[in-house]
Amino acid sequence: MKLDVVLGLQWGDEGKGKIVDVLAETYPVIARFQGGPNAGHSIHFEGKKFVLRSVPSGSFRKGTINIIGSGVVLDPITFREECENIKAAGIPLEERLYISKKTHLILPTHRIIDAAQEASKGKSKIGSTLKGIGPTYTDKVSRVGLRVGDILAPNFHERFEALKAKHIEYLKGFDFEYNAEEHEQEWLEAAEYLKNFKIIDGEYFANECLDTNKNILAEGAQGSMLDIDFGSYPFVTSSNTICPGACVGLGVAPGRIGRVYGIFKAYCTRVGSGPFPTELFDETGEELRNKGFEYGAVTGRPRRCGWLDLVALKYAIMLNGVTDLIMMKADVMDTFDTIKVATGYMVNGEPTNKFPFDTQSEIVPVYKEFKGWKKPLCDTKSESEFPYEFRVFIKFIEEELKVPVKIISVGPDREQTIIRED
Ligand code: GDP
Ligand code: IMO
Ligand code: MG
Repeated sequence: MKLDVVLGLQWGDEGKGKIVDVLAETYPVIARFQGGPNAGHSIHFEGKKFVLRSVPSGSFRKGTINIIGSGVVLDPITFREECENIKAAGIPLEERLYISKKTHLILPTHRIIDAAQEASKGKSKIGSTLKGIGPTYTDKVSRVGLRVGDILAPNFHERFEALKAKHIEYLKGFDFEYNAEEHEQEWLEAAEYLKNFKIIDGEYFANECLDTNKNILAEGAQGSMLDIDFGSYPFVTSSNTICPGACVGLGVAPGRIGRVYGIFKAYCTRVGSGPFPTELFDETGEELRNKGFEYGAVTGRPRRCGWLDLVALKYAIMLNGVTDLIMMKADVMDTFDTIKVATGYMVNGEPTNKFPFDTQSEIVPVYKEFKGWKKPLCDTKSESEFPYEFRVFIKFIEEELKVPVKIISVGPDREQTIIRED
């Protein structure tokens, strides 16, 4: 049995939540492997909408087991809110959701440090979601972090206090006002709430699933261009969003990886700062934002919008070993006369098809233009109904990327998904 992986190929918000929910119908186990409540994964079905932050997107499928893996960072306060919201819709979450003991905890003071660090950056802000992600991973790597399994230990409170004291000491280096106690009681109660769920040895559990005929679908958060090592550093998140992150975040060996589903929008978006070569500052960008509802699922921040970027996409496919592409949101461009796709860059006046190291480089995309299909895609039920111009667009992308587009999403709902035959 294999560990299949779903991950974003761009700057996040590609539609991972929707696709994991769709694919979860055929996987008994779904596992989040990195990131935390900086993620916002939207799922629409039967007229309902949910935005998931830390809970895996298989949670609405009967018979699934959903794991929060060791590579995730978990904030008990947002987690409890999220769980209560899902449970209010009648979902028996305690039966379906397991948490790995090695998952690191986001403390209230991690969030404060995130805000203090971001405030101190002046004009060069990353645009962090301020959920405490960076500081929590920093503590993990510094070997001082607290993990979900620690909640079960008798000295948990002492360890919490010790880490909080370290944070308060560190915060003395910032000119930043805060109240460390503001969310403390709520946080400690929410940490207790975690005990309502099965707290497991995630790596043993995942491997036992694979050994006993249960495929696992790993759910990525963020996108490849936000990867800590290979994204547009320093404008990245603090985890490995790329495929190897699934091995590290779940404790599963690389040889057990099966399919790698790479999700991309038929255009691009980015929230926060950092390079975005195909960004549009004109009314086309505005149209993408309005028609695509490109506002952060969690923060409500307007997303920066631009044309599809094949240079960045090829880079992400290379990093991840993508076997199947999944194209989202082409329906947003239904009314466009012309659609552009970047096939190369001019970087500081030189042509290249590689994403540059230097985030300060002047990148000018080289575009290929396509005639718009000018028909609504949202009600198409099969590939045979696709307009001619849309087929041309897909064929070009497949030929350029050398990976087949296996799934095409034509709307936010679970049902608006076309799975192409092999
Ligand atoms: P994620 O973080 O990758 O799960 O993506 P988000 O949920 O943050 O953002 C994707 C947004 O696009 C959500 O509002 C989805 O409901 C919506 N969406 C997903 N697929 C489609 C699609 O094919 N067409 C349209 N119009 N919207 C979609
Ligand atoms: P999903 O899983 C889009 C961005 C932030 C910021 C940078 C660092 O929904 O695709 P962080 O909070 O991690 O310190 O922020 O990364 N970012 C995302 N952008 N989608 C996400 O998640 C994101 N998670 C973080 O906007 O630029
Ligand atoms: Mg999102």
